[in-house]
Formats: sequence, C-alpha cells, structure tokens
Amino acid sequence: MYSEKVMDHFTSPRNVGEIENADGIGEVGNAKCGDIMKIYLKIENDIIKDVKFKTFGCGAAVATSSIATEMIKGKTIEEALKLTNKAVVEALDGLPPQKIHCSVLAEEAVKAAIEDYKKKHNKQ
Ligand code: FES
Ligand code: FES
Repeated sequence: MYSEKVMDHFTSPRNVGEIENADGIGEVGNAKCGDIMKIYLKIENDIIKDVKFKTFGCGAAVATSSIATEMIKGKTIEEALKLTNKAVVEALDGLPPQKIHCSVLAEEAVKAAIEDYKKKHNKQ
C-alpha cells in the first residue's frame, strides 16, 4: 500500500528532533485524525540552514514531514513557502488516497514555522 520511499522515510526519518533557540517553530494539528506535527527552523539571511521535526501521528505523517524537511533544507524562505503537499506526495512516489491529508499537515507545518519566523523578525 505504501511506496518504498514512504517506507524508507517512515522507518528511518530524516531530521528528527528539535532545534534549541529555533528561529521559527510551526505546530499544526490535523482535525481529521488528531495528529500533531511540529517543525523547527534555523534561518540565516532568509536561508533555511537547519530544520528538524517532531510528529505524533501516523506513518504517512512521519514520512511526509521527513521528506518535507529534506525538501526545504538549504532553500530560501520564499522557496520553502512554495512547497505544496502535492510536491511532497510526488517526492514520496505517491500516497494512498486516504493518506493525502497527512501531506497537508507537512505543508502547513512548514508554512506555520516560516510565518512564526517572519513574525519574530518583523518581516511582514
Ligand atoms: Fe491518526 Fe492517521 S488517523 S495517525
Ligand atoms: Fe493523521 Fe496521517 S496525519 S492519519
């Protein structure tokens, strides 16, 4: 039911943990299932230098957050803001239809963390 990539990111997720003194933190919850995802960003000159995540949720939520952190690391915040859940799903070689909402959590968590960064640094 899951692609190899999903299983890979689920069984060995990248960038798990938290960042002390993070420049931006985004926490979102999925109303559908009650799962929670938290993303921490270290940002220098508007570039995402480091990113870590903590996800309390299903395997698809772990896999989507894991790959999302890989996709935004080293990117500018403007580029990272363009990350869509569709791009996350494609990067994972697809998700079962009933798990698409888990990828929305990843997109929202990244956006929330960047918004938090912007707010804290008077960038909006
Ligand atoms: Fe909660 Fe997916 S329904 S883990
Ligand atoms: Fe809850 Fe995947 S995030 S089912």
